[in-house]
Amino acid sequence: MDLFLDVSPFWYMFFNVFVVVLSLMFLKLFLRCWILPVRAQKKLGENGFSGPPPSFPLGNLNDMKKLKPALVMEETSKSSTIINHAIHSIALPHFALWQQQYGKVFVYWLGIEPFVYVADPEFLSVMSKGVLGKSWGKPNVFKKDREPMFGTGLLMVEGDDWTRHRHIITPAFGHVNLKAMKSMMVESTNNMLDRWAMQINSGNPEFDMENEIIGTAGEIIAKTSFGVKGENGTQVLKNLRAMQFALFNSNRYVGVPFSNILAFKQNRKASKLGEEIDGLLLSIINERKRSVLEGDDHHDLLGMLLKADKGKFTATELIDECKTFFFAGHETTALALTWTFMLLAMHPEWQETLRDEIRQVIGDSEIEYNKLAGLKKMSWVMNEVLRLYPPAPNTQRQARKDIEVNGRVIPNGTNIWIDVVAMHHDAELWGDDVNKFKPERFDGDLHGGCKNKMGFMPFGFGGRMCIGRNLTTMEYKIVLSLVLSRFEISVSPGYRHSPEYMLSLRPAYGLPLIVRPL
Ligand code: HEM
Repeated sequence: MDLFLDVSPFWYMFFNVFVVVLSLMFLKLFLRCWILPVRAQKKLGENGFSGPPPSFPLGNLNDMKKLKPALVMEETSKSSTIINHAIHSIALPHFALWQQQYGKVFVYWLGIEPFVYVADPEFLSVMSKGVLGKSWGKPNVFKKDREPMFGTGLLMVEGDDWTRHRHIITPAFGHVNLKAMKSMMVESTNNMLDRWAMQINSGNPEFDMENEIIGTAGEIIAKTSFGVKGENGTQVLKNLRAMQFALFNSNRYVGVPFSNILAFKQNRKASKLGEEIDGLLLSIINERKRSVLEGDDHHDLLGMLLKADKGKFTATELIDECKTFFFAGHETTALALTWTFMLLAMHPEWQETLRDEIRQVIGDSEIEYNKLAGLKKMSWVMNEVLRLYPPAPNTQRQARKDIEVNGRVIPNGTNIWIDVVAMHHDAELWGDDVNKFKPERFDGDLHGGCKNKMGFMPFGFGGRMCIGRNLTTMEYKIVLSLVLSRFEISVSPGYRHSPEYMLSLRPAYGLPLIVRPL
């Protein structure tokens, strides 16, 4: 007791301050992890949004993890020998089950973050009427989680900053600029096809098409975004891929308090790679600035941005845009092509139809940018693939004000999860042939006959729709035309059809295909 009384005033004060700071931190934590989520749940409930009951601190994550193996096994046992395109209950079994219980709009929880789930295009169109692109937010929880990938690039930036970024970047994706990128795409694709020819000559006609295409699409997007010539460029590409892998492994508990501590090792790896990438990109940007001043022309997005922005972007913003182009553009395009090869391998008659069209439109000459628009049937095929296997299987928003939808209020700050796979596979919107591969449904109809225009949205919706869709379409048509002009493809007996949701929608066991020269 005496000892306690002998404590000097300094330590006494220090102890008191320490207790106050600790109490404040605890209060903040309590508010963030308990009071606010409980209040959000109450508000959503009062507005008629129900859903699977969450538990603290995982929300519905445990249900999602538990439901997946059980429901997927049930589904795949039904269709082990047939390639079934009714994939919603295979790729997203928890959403398929909750839809049956709670309808096409409900609330579920990732940790302590509530998400209004939407698979009803009517609800979506009322919700999005009157909300400008710049007035939508992106869920804070994802912005934080994916910071090393996208930073404050176009995909994540909000408000007036988004308007400014979109304004500066849009012209870089214009037709004149895209035209200048054609030869980069042709070169990378031809390199891949020459490799295929050599492997087939050596007696091995089987390829993991997903791997092949991801490699080539990564090279193309890096070339068209910031160039990959030289050591720095190659190293950036390598680090970007490693970062995606590191981050993907740490994405399991998004929304759960302190989950970043659980994934500490991967997060540290990702941010270290992020710092290296930023440094390398900065040196590329500085080098570019010098060479632009000397009057050199660069036909990639960075070159075009530097020419167009005239110093409006800071170096950090330029770095974030380069990373965003890479991450938003490479896997999505690669998966669109991968699923196309799977579907064309199943439908040799469509390979033949497209070959005829390529012969008529392009002929034996080199591919010309202006002729790509003439590949109409190829556009139907692309749309049908994006419908059945959308590479971006969901779109997210965060409300930045209260939004009223048919008398129900989505409170300010609520996350919104739009399930694109569900809408693209909804028989009420598409009819009984919803799960059939029928590219001709897009003949003369941009929405493929969908009853609601918002039921088909592979590139998102509203002002924030994908800025890279013309670049993707161009790359898709060039790669597909070059492949189909030299090879025919069929499904390998080793292929196991199991579309899996891993941020994007990919074949869980790769895509082994047999390739034969024509
Ligand atoms: C098949 C290929 C692609 C698909 C399926 C796809 C899909 C999407 C989707 C669904 C969105 C979100 C839209 C929304 O929130 O409403 C988006 C946005 C975006 N995409 Fe793509 N994308 C593809 C290719 C590309 C490419 C090649 C690039 C760039 C080189 C790119 C760059 C972006 C950017 C920067 C945004 C953010 C736009 C904004 O918020 O203003 N995408 N994309």
